[in-house]
Amino acid sequence: MTEDWWQSAVVYQIYPRSFKDSNGDGLGDLPGITIKLDYLAELGITAIWLCPVFRSPMADNGYDISDYRGISPGFGSLNDMETLIAEADKRGIKIFLDLVLNHTSDQHPWFKSAVSDPKSPYRDYYIFRKGADGKPPTNWRSIFGGPVWESVPSGSAGAMDGGGEYYLHIFAKEQPDLNWENPKLRQELYDMIHWWMDKGVAGFRIDAISYIKKDPAYPNLPVDGPDGLADLVPCCLVFPGIEKFLAELRDKVFKPRNAFTVAEAYGVRPEQLRDYAGEGGLFSAIFDFTYTDLENGIWYKTWLPSAAELRDLIFRSQKGLLGKGRGAPYFENHDQNRSPNRYLHPEQWTREGKTMLGILFFFLQGIPFIYQGQELGMTNYPWKSLDEFNDVSTFDQYQRALAAGFSKDDAFRFIQHRSRDNARTPMLWDNSPNAGFSSGKPWLPVHPDYVSINAEAERQDANSVFAFYRSMIALRKKHPDLFFAGDFIPHCEDNPSLIVYERSYQKEGRHERALVICNFSDEKQRLDISNIGGKGAKGIDRGALVLLGNRRNAGASIGRESSGNILLEPLEGLVLGL
Ligand code: NOJ
Repeated sequence: MTEDWWQSAVVYQIYPRSFKDSNGDGLGDLPGITIKLDYLAELGITAIWLCPVFRSPMADNGYDISDYRGISPGFGSLNDMETLIAEADKRGIKIFLDLVLNHTSDQHPWFKSAVSDPKSPYRDYYIFRKGADGKPPTNWRSIFGGPVWESVPSGSAGAMDGGGEYYLHIFAKEQPDLNWENPKLRQELYDMIHWWMDKGVAGFRIDAISYIKKDPAYPNLPVDGPDGLADLVPCCLVFPGIEKFLAELRDKVFKPRNAFTVAEAYGVRPEQLRDYAGEGGLFSAIFDFTYTDLENGIWYKTWLPSAAELRDLIFRSQKGLLGKGRGAPYFENHDQNRSPNRYLHPEQWTREGKTMLGILFFFLQGIPFIYQGQELGMTNYPWKSLDEFNDVSTFDQYQRALAAGFSKDDAFRFIQHRSRDNARTPMLWDNSPNAGFSSGKPWLPVHPDYVSINAEAERQDANSVFAFYRSMIALRKKHPDLFFAGDFIPHCEDNPSLIVYERSYQKEGRHERALVICNFSDEKQRLDISNIGGKGAKGIDRGALVLLGNRRNAGASIGRESSGNILLEPLEGLVLGL
């Protein structure tokens, strides 16, 4: 495997609106991030993924861009961005931007021109089609609910003679899809990305990229819901031919600039992983949603997986990547609820439970991503009423639950648990009003836990979740090859409470190995280690060293009972050097 500069990266995701407000308007901003760079350097991360900060009417909080080269005034200025890049660089931290290339805002000048004039040179930057018999061109359902087609009102300046025209939006109607079949449009996007790289941006997280190619036949699909619509997946997700666009994007932009890219690429099949994220592939790495998107599209399925079920999902993902591609392991992002709520019982939302979860995902193959507040152990906000929410898709989900016959209480319970706003409540900095996030009224409510769960308190507590994340990051940085590229070897696949895996890396006579053990049970558990790791067939050495543990000190030897078993404490998480 060739060395790339980003192989040892540990990425921290920032949702700028909720990170740190520097001017008291209740919204986080770029100067706020710059103020907190020392905190991030102390944590040890090496790169920041910044969710969109470009000009946007904020229908989807920045994922609806109206100017790719401008900063939304609420977040600051271009100058603030340049300062952030320069200050981060001084601390050895790279900046990765969020590239939203599937769609723009309906307020983007290209779209405004396209929708108001059928002869506009920008008309073909988007996807306009004629419907038939008063119906939209196809029956596809948009991801945020309702049809993917929005009509161009008859008689409006943008309507063609005869009317009946629609434009396509895979997400909200304020997010019209770009027409990637148009080479001029593609070139405009490439120029824009080069422009950001000229400013010192080192890489990109690439939004919704698997939707850029649509089935050119635009067929109707079998209806699959009470709304009379059909899931768009067969015609819009990783549709054959997409690889040509992605290869061009790589060859014209990312490759010549040696940029890091991580794709939000739903729908990539295991046999495609090598092409997408293998060496020389379309992207540097790929997010795998197998073990995070538990609802798998059925968002009202509030499912708490057992340890065995979670293990199956994680191992399936890791085995799929074996030798094929690079993953980007993560447990939280701005589209998910908080991980303790997703994977643990409420009694387990303790320092031990949260750090055990940390160990579980952080040492998987690939480039790990930590989401703001995860390193503090934040949990879901205790929502009390509908008007506390902000997220466009949360409101849609609530309405869809009612339409599907659920009671108001049930619908509320679903969004309480699942809403994306759970990850978007303000970062908890200290125990002052608004948790030190803002001197104004925060745009989303502040979690009441801030009195004890906050960055300031945790930085001073050697036993905090924050301190533990620091140690995890330090350990990963000490063994970049092992944890980035090492083989993934599953163990104990029948155990109901334990998740155990090994990482192993061999190169030029050097052999590094680590065993990761997570006890999901509230009881002590014995682990028979006679067949695991260790030298030869004797199992783990009595003297095997603890590299990291949430219940034992690093550097201690593991010890074994006379039976040869290891006795694990409840919610114990452990990384052993073998
Ligand atoms: C995925 C992003 O993560 C999500 O927040 C956004 O709503 C959609 N893409 C649309 O851009």
